[in-house]
Amino acid sequence: MATTTLPIAPPQIRHQQCFIGGQWVDSVSGKTFATVNPATEEEICQVAEGDAEDVDLAVQAARNALENGPWAGMDARDRGGLMYKLADLIEQELDELAALETLDNGKPIRDARAADLPLVIDCLRYYAGYADKFHGKTIPVRGNFFTYTRREPIGVAGQIIPWNFPLLMAAWKWGPALAAGCTIVMKPAEQTPLTCLRLAQLAQDAGFPDGVINVVPGFGPTAGAAVVKHPGVDKVAFTGEYKTAQIIMRDAAETLKRLTFELGGKSPNIVFADADLEAAAAGAHFGLFFNQGQCCCAGSRLFVEESIHDKFVDKLVALSKDCKIGDPLDPETQQGPQVDKAQFDKIMEYIDLGNRQGAQCLTGGQRAGERGYFIEPTVFDAVTDDMAIATEEIFGPVMNILKFKDVDEIVDRANNTFYGLAAAVWTRDIGKAHHIARHVKAGTVWVNCYDVFDAAAPFGGFKMSGIGRELGEKALDNYLEDKTVTVALD
Ligand code: NAI
Ligand code: MG
Repeated sequence: MATTTLPIAPPQIRHQQCFIGGQWVDSVSGKTFATVNPATEEEICQVAEGDAEDVDLAVQAARNALENGPWAGMDARDRGGLMYKLADLIEQELDELAALETLDNGKPIRDARAADLPLVIDCLRYYAGYADKFHGKTIPVRGNFFTYTRREPIGVAGQIIPWNFPLLMAAWKWGPALAAGCTIVMKPAEQTPLTCLRLAQLAQDAGFPDGVINVVPGFGPTAGAAVVKHPGVDKVAFTGEYKTAQIIMRDAAETLKRLTFELGGKSPNIVFADADLEAAAAGAHFGLFFNQGQCCCAGSRLFVEESIHDKFVDKLVALSKDCKIGDPLDPETQQGPQVDKAQFDKIMEYIDLGNRQGAQCLTGGQRAGERGYFIEPTVFDAVTDDMAIATEEIFGPVMNILKFKDVDEIVDRANNTFYGLAAAVWTRDIGKAHHIARHVKAGTVWVNCYDVFDAAAPFGGFKMSGIGRELGEKALDNYLEDKTVTVALD
């Protein structure tokens, strides 16, 4: 592993407390927890550890802002204006926010700058434009009545996000919620609280009234569960593991919370022999290894048509061997460390399982270096459908290659999973491409591309990959209630 000195100055840590009602406050218990730099395994700083009491204060602040504050009476267009302003402030601070994201999460600075931050800004601007465009309907009913609908904010939104794209997940959740006029209690992931806290300050600087956005850092079973159970929270949006979503659904039953889930996947990436193989290899590599493999939509079942298998695999191995792994603050670095020790250990166990269950490790398979949670880009060939590495979400830099014979067999195999988040197909045959797109059970299908995201394009899962959609116009429905008003005309 290359050792480089830090070409980017480590960013300043400015916020370590809870952000509640426009104030920076310690947790009620006074407890804190460490957030760790995954590239060095060293503590970055201590952060306030929120729990039920802190969540309760945040919910009170959010409810007050929803019902009494300037936010409640603000013209919708001005609400959008605040969102544009926030996007501008993020843009001005792009380099510093990217460095902070890299420090806390371990993702390469070049990805944070080129992908995470621009997508965050775009997402907020996209939803800002919606703030004044919630149109109800006038509805012809029987009798002499005038009936119309209003689209009102759902209320206080509880939002629980993961660590793989900390800023971007905040933007995906804040965008539609703020446009709709909701107020927010967010719990960032315990691994990566720092950029979300910075974002809260930028929102205040942009002019969002106190209490509209509240951030309570802390752990899932304590602070997270408190958000889910709180009767003052009207809706919970969660991104993370499906097993956590099962707990959240149970915890939400008591208060019948509206729920949206964006969960994991075991997405099939299907390469036909007639594809542009250079493009397909680059896309398959990117679709798996991007963000250290820590993507809900990672193309982690790579199906390759038998006739091109050998030469295609050679290309993939070459790409993996070429990948520059190391200090994520080095602008040349392509792969950083996994986010924490738990993820590192989980991935190493899957690599061990892959070897023991008879898959063939063509490259990688080891820890990289002695310090930090680095794992070599790993490629397994001769993977079969029933192996653990082909059925379970690994969430790491581990590619699994499976062979297939023809189009008749591949749809069933691609759908043989309880997940249904994404899929991709590589072919020059337009009929085959649409056949796969139609029959594969997934919320997103990419044809001759991978990981193409846009704020306007809905994203979410079939089956156990989620409930509801994020992004696009659709996501606004998650934050609105429809009210029907009927007026007697005589
Ligand atoms: P997780 O689902 O436990 O954590 C995600 C968020 O949920 C964090 O903010 C966490 O504090 C919170 N949380 C955890 N338990 C909770 C509870 N009982 N009530 C309310 N909130 C709770 O995911 P984790 O443990 O970080 O990662 C485990 C695996 O989950 C990963 O290896 C990966 O396979 C998958 N995952 C999928 C993600 C995706 O984007 N779909 C993101 C992160 C993890
Ligand atoms: Mg967990």
